[in-house]
Amino acid sequence: MRNLGQLSLGWPALLCICTVFSSLFTPAVAVKENDFKKCHQSGFCKRNRAYADTAVAQGSSWVAPYKIPFELASFKDGQFQATVLKTIDDQGTTAELPIIISFLKSGTARVTVDEQVRKEKSIDLRHNSGARKERYNEAEKWAIVGGLAVDTNAKVSHEGKTGMKIQYGPDFTFEADIRFEPYSIEFKRGGESQIKLNDRGLMNLEHWRPKVEKPAPEKKEGEEGEEEQKDEENKEDTVAVNPSEDESTWWEETFGGNTDSKPRGPESVALDVTFFGYEHVYGIPEHSGPLSLKETRGGDGAHTEPYRLYNSDVFEYVLDSPMTLYGAIPFMQAQRKDSTVGVFWLNAAETWIDITKAKESKNPLSLGIGAKTNTHTHWISESGLMDVFVFLGPTPKHVTKSYGELTGTTAMPQEFSIGYHQCRWNYVSDDDVKEVDRKMDRYKIPYDVIWLDIEYTDDKKYFSWDYDMFKDPMAMGQHLDEHGRKLVVIIDPHIKNVGGYSVSDELKSKGLAVKNKDGKDFDGWCWPGSSMWVDCFNPAATKWWSSLFNYDKFKGTMENTWLWNDMNEPSVFNGPEVTMPKDNLHHDNWEHRDVHNINGMTFHNATFEALMSRKKGELRRPFVLTRSFYAGSQRLGAMWTGDNQASWEHLGAAVPMILNQGISGFPFAGADVGGFFGNPEQELQVRWYQAGSFYPFFRGHAHIDARRREPFMLAEPYRSIATAALRLRYTLLPSWYTAFYQANQDGSPVIRPMYWTHPSEEAGFAVDDQFFLGSTGILVKPVVEQDKNTQEIYIPDDEVYYDYFTYNKLSTTKGKNLTAEAPLENIPILMRGGHIFPRRDIPRRSAQLMKFDDYTLVVALDKHGRAEGELYIDDGDSFDYEKGQYIHRTFKLNGSTLASTDAEGRGAKSVKEGDWLKRMHNVAVDKVIIVGAPASWSKKKEVQVEAGGKKSTVKLEYFKADGSRAAFAILGRVGASIGADWTVDFS
Ligand code: NOJ
Repeated sequence: MRNLGQLSLGWPALLCICTVFSSLFTPAVAVKENDFKKCHQSGFCKRNRAYADTAVAQGSSWVAPYKIPFELASFKDGQFQATVLKTIDDQGTTAELPIIISFLKSGTARVTVDEQVRKEKSIDLRHNSGARKERYNEAEKWAIVGGLAVDTNAKVSHEGKTGMKIQYGPDFTFEADIRFEPYSIEFKRGGESQIKLNDRGLMNLEHWRPKVEKPAPEKKEGEEGEEEQKDEENKEDTVAVNPSEDESTWWEETFGGNTDSKPRGPESVALDVTFFGYEHVYGIPEHSGPLSLKETRGGDGAHTEPYRLYNSDVFEYVLDSPMTLYGAIPFMQAQRKDSTVGVFWLNAAETWIDITKAKESKNPLSLGIGAKTNTHTHWISESGLMDVFVFLGPTPKHVTKSYGELTGTTAMPQEFSIGYHQCRWNYVSDDDVKEVDRKMDRYKIPYDVIWLDIEYTDDKKYFSWDYDMFKDPMAMGQHLDEHGRKLVVIIDPHIKNVGGYSVSDELKSKGLAVKNKDGKDFDGWCWPGSSMWVDCFNPAATKWWSSLFNYDKFKGTMENTWLWNDMNEPSVFNGPEVTMPKDNLHHDNWEHRDVHNINGMTFHNATFEALMSRKKGELRRPFVLTRSFYAGSQRLGAMWTGDNQASWEHLGAAVPMILNQGISGFPFAGADVGGFFGNPEQELQVRWYQAGSFYPFFRGHAHIDARRREPFMLAEPYRSIATAALRLRYTLLPSWYTAFYQANQDGSPVIRPMYWTHPSEEAGFAVDDQFFLGSTGILVKPVVEQDKNTQEIYIPDDEVYYDYFTYNKLSTTKGKNLTAEAPLENIPILMRGGHIFPRRDIPRRSAQLMKFDDYTLVVALDKHGRAEGELYIDDGDSFDYEKGQYIHRTFKLNGSTLASTDAEGRGAKSVKEGDWLKRMHNVAVDKVIIVGAPASWSKKKEVQVEAGGKKSTVKLEYFKADGSRAAFAILGRVGASIGADWTVDFS
């Protein structure tokens, strides 16, 4: 529960709090679920589900009202243009819906449908609203950064009165089969159907219509005022004859005592998308639940609600639920053996997605045998354009790459930010911070960042300090800096609405706050009490926001201060569904309803921009953590999964959620280690550290009411076990950084689920509790259950696998589970044969102190005695890597030679070396550990190393196979510079 006791209270405030409290005092689980809408409580969702029911019930006799007159269709320069006509009454009146299908150079197709009358602004708004009249068409401005170049080579392969076929993509192997009546688009690859839009005729674009005032029904005595009181949740049974045309929520909608004025009437967009032969679909974060998404229209183990995307502050969220959470990425991938495809639904409004699966047998005689499963999806958004991107794969890597070309890839992180973060709500004073820092050192626990939650401020006025408790923030920052540590401070988007607070005064006087439907500054309730919200859709607001972070403006901050953006869904305690009213107005008069899911990203973006300009001449990679996000947020920083609980179930729920973030383009993700609410017992906390040490974003955090739980607080043996997990994270930092580099290059997930690495192995498609770390071959399955001593690990191929710690060669069978020993002190980790990965083995206090340490290479040989790996290094802080200031190596052990070469074939002097690169000359390869070393090396005592034209002899220690332990060899010290070419000759 939120700490409402912290708020400073006025009368209106008390009133609000009473409302909040009254809803908190209902039974525990019901609280959260009833605070948020179900589909039947959301007018447009209910109407579209009803529309789908009608269509499906009518089967082949269903006549969808959408068609393209062939004379209105044309194709030119990679684009198909036409008008879809929607028949809107019995007289055959139609609404014009301009459609453009663009075939992009990347092989992605984009289908955009608008509505002519709204496009021309020829509609009337109700309630004297100042809102824009068009469908929201700026989601692209926020989400898309590239990949839109049209492929002018795309060509028409068939044209007729009933449709048109377009060939495009690699070697013209992709085809879009556009049917005019009924309207649909089928996408094929190599002649085989993959995806069909409007397959079931569920497309529904609610056209503009004027409100027809009907005479109010006569009221019987005693009924006065009752209608107004009726909340949407109670309306379910009172709907008129045709539920898909149920007018009761067209012009106004009430939920939880809040009424949405809907000045533009009904305007939802919906479309069905069928994936042929695909049984698994993934993506559309953020939800808690399995990676392979469930069906949503009931049945065994299925959900009954659609997956919802409406960024919300859902505290104490329930697990395995399609309920919305803090962020939204409307990107879905579908997987079947050897094929991956995807769709991206670019819409920022409230969205619901239904998923159903159906067996289909092409040959009635082979009923049940080899019958394919089709996955049917139904996308429903409240407003905006219909804008869909279609990816035809064929591999997961192709799909993530194409999506990354559009929305951007993960920013190269600050190197420190992939170390461990120590947070709690709250460290209460500068002495407290220094004490935690000292204790981490005393117990030799590595960490990089300590965090300050909202209590560091003066009365929740951001950009200020509570100087009673934080007497000298600069001295605190300097103390941390002495051993390379950083401070992250929280800044939220709500600004205390109080006179005399310069941030608030400026926000008002400059007119940069979000407005209510009457055009006045919107006032709502959050941590500081009465608050306003900075409108980061406004470029002027972003510019002003940036100025607040300058070191001389935000006193007490310095070069090692970084940022945390929370509550940016936005969370409004007294708002509908704990957020802003949908009829609030943003910059350029877009309604909040249109942009809601992007709102969090705009705030994250403003803070990111601010950190790029804190001081003239200082250009460093920002680190900003966000809770709310949208497609594209990966370009700006990290996310975490919000307010989880200190329970085994929440520990188990975290990995699938983080994996889902990764395959949805936003891999810099983590969950609060230890669980936010509650107090984890020591075993749970240790298991959480073990799991967390493999989250891309690794932070311990705790609620203000939770007991202190820094890792040094643990009793032995728990403390040592947690410390070992943290140390493991630090030794593997070079591998993590390389995985982030790969994510930056092509959108690959940092931790990778089985379907992603092994798209041919159907047995792994639903596996979501284990993963590979980048391309290292390190396979991890954290223990997430109490009292466990063994762990079953699914083996996706017939490669050789070794235990990470013991080098035991494991007896594995492809597609079967292996039982690994997993007593509390063990994290079940395997090394897949065929990989080489880098480590730094000298224990240090922080990542920064490891910057110039030597490297260890671990080589896990495959069945044929070969292995290959990659290392990427840069200064971990600046943008100099964009100017070639980095080291990028490929390591290869083939036969009897291990070689390090430049991964991009760059020559030795290809760039003018800056200070960092020069210093890296002295950083060397220390040891090389070769696991599975051949018996032919057993007599060797030394080997020849050639580096920079010089030959030297290096000691080799060989350890014979012993029982199940594989033979291994340790070579060292190699001494070759990590950035140089070198070879080792084992012959
Ligand atoms: C909600 C966030 O999810 C949580 O992490 C934070 O501690 C509180 N807000 C207080 O800022």
